[in-house]
Amino acid sequence: MKYLVGIDVGTSGVKTILANERGAVVTRAFKEVPLYTPHPNWAEQDPEDWWRGTVDTLRQAIASSGVDPAAIAGIGLSGQMHSAVLLDENSRVLRPAILWCDTRTTEQCRWITHTAGEQHLVDWVSNPALEGFTAPKLIWVRDHEPETFDRVRQVLLPKDYIRFRMTGAYAMEVSDAAGTLLFDVRNRRWSHELMTALGLPEYIMPPVYESTDVCGTVTKELADATGLLPGTPVVGGGADNTCGAVGTGIVKPGRVLASIGTSGVIFAHTDDVWVDPGLRVHTFCHSVPHRWYLMGVMLFAGGSFRWVRDTFGELEASVSRLIDSDPYELLTAEADQAPVGSEGLIFLPYLMGERTPHKDANAKGAFVGLTGRHTKQHIVRSVMEGITFAMRDSIEIMRELGLSVAEVRTTGGGARSALWRQIQADVYGAEVATINAEEGPAFGAALLAGVGVGLYPSVETAADDIVRVVSRTEPDPEAMKRYEDFYHVFRSLYPALKPGFDRLTDLVRRHG
Ligand code: XUL
Repeated sequence: MKYLVGIDVGTSGVKTILANERGAVVTRAFKEVPLYTPHPNWAEQDPEDWWRGTVDTLRQAIASSGVDPAAIAGIGLSGQMHSAVLLDENSRVLRPAILWCDTRTTEQCRWITHTAGEQHLVDWVSNPALEGFTAPKLIWVRDHEPETFDRVRQVLLPKDYIRFRMTGAYAMEVSDAAGTLLFDVRNRRWSHELMTALGLPEYIMPPVYESTDVCGTVTKELADATGLLPGTPVVGGGADNTCGAVGTGIVKPGRVLASIGTSGVIFAHTDDVWVDPGLRVHTFCHSVPHRWYLMGVMLFAGGSFRWVRDTFGELEASVSRLIDSDPYELLTAEADQAPVGSEGLIFLPYLMGERTPHKDANAKGAFVGLTGRHTKQHIVRSVMEGITFAMRDSIEIMRELGLSVAEVRTTGGGARSALWRQIQADVYGAEVATINAEEGPAFGAALLAGVGVGLYPSVETAADDIVRVVSRTEPDPEAMKRYEDFYHVFRSLYPALKPGFDRLTDLVRRHG
């Protein structure tokens, strides 16, 4: 029996899994990684923390599995997208990584759009300039920290920095390269056109591979530190969202993934390049070779629910410690006591600004419709509903573009609770399925490694043979009708509140 390793360099921490070739996960290990917010809207991490997390979780996973390291056929890497790691000529990290959820770069996005021209952005890189993407972060460093920028010799994304430390190779693969805004998504190569227009030297970006290509092998140092064998192949791997999609079988048209992690993602596979004329959803390269996908991203989906737990869930946290359960389960049970639509209480989940569909770093969270009748039960339910309404915004864009949304597979926080699965089915108006693999992107990365080392003939066959639907939730026609009305109110609220959000942003900037 052969084994595969998948590593996910996430925002909350590093997760490593070891699976056998039939797709059964043998062990898993997780280590949290700190997140720094030195200013409002900033989000940074220290790449050294990811590295420590990788070495520790690899060592733990291998030791606790009892698996002979010679049976480990390959390793796949997955990671948070877009976050910029800058290295100097000695491959040393120049500053903390600026993360995907950091929105300091509004000014740089305007400059990129003005300098390149919006139509050129579509033609060259198939996407608009958005705060989360990598290129605006590079321009921000050039504008604000020019001495640092002058020393940049290599730009990597989180999992590719870990690859460099594991193998000594500078490499990226198409699914993560696509999220830099410097990649010609249509032709799967760096965009010299855009890099030239922005005055960025091409040597700072590494060679690019398909996700299943082997692009390095484990060094002796890493082998000594973890128990792996030196020379174990490491494949390209993929962005956390494409690995999550592979691991849930979103490798064919018609299947849509609704994933609720810190961010919320609606992901639809496409066989060709589709670009939303309104540029509301992203067009990126899939980890299935020569395939693409459309994606809508909410910046703070599960993040909003975590905020509810941390802000209103002190009691649930204490009780869950006593009875050894999960505070989210207790909160969800309370939400279940409130009716569909939370008696007119609507939550806008824009606590970190919003990407899809508003593309607005100034957007803010809000509870609208609060009355004296509302209780904590309504508040928790309205947060779950508000997150789901915002996810539906992306589904509506996919439908408008003519994509089939026949089956929505859900993972992450939204998949674990029966109530949230039902809310999703009712709000999306589609069947919501869960699958047997609950390991997220690390699992998809392991499957990509299996394809890369020849254990599986293709990503599609690997996913179809291993990933199975284990539950299906049908929409309830009555609840669907009621949610339709609340969703229309939800949609009307952001435009109505937008001027207030802008003024508040300005006031906070001036007065703190
Ligand atoms: C996608 C995005 C997030 C991160 C989370 O564009 O920014 O989903 O990948 O890790």
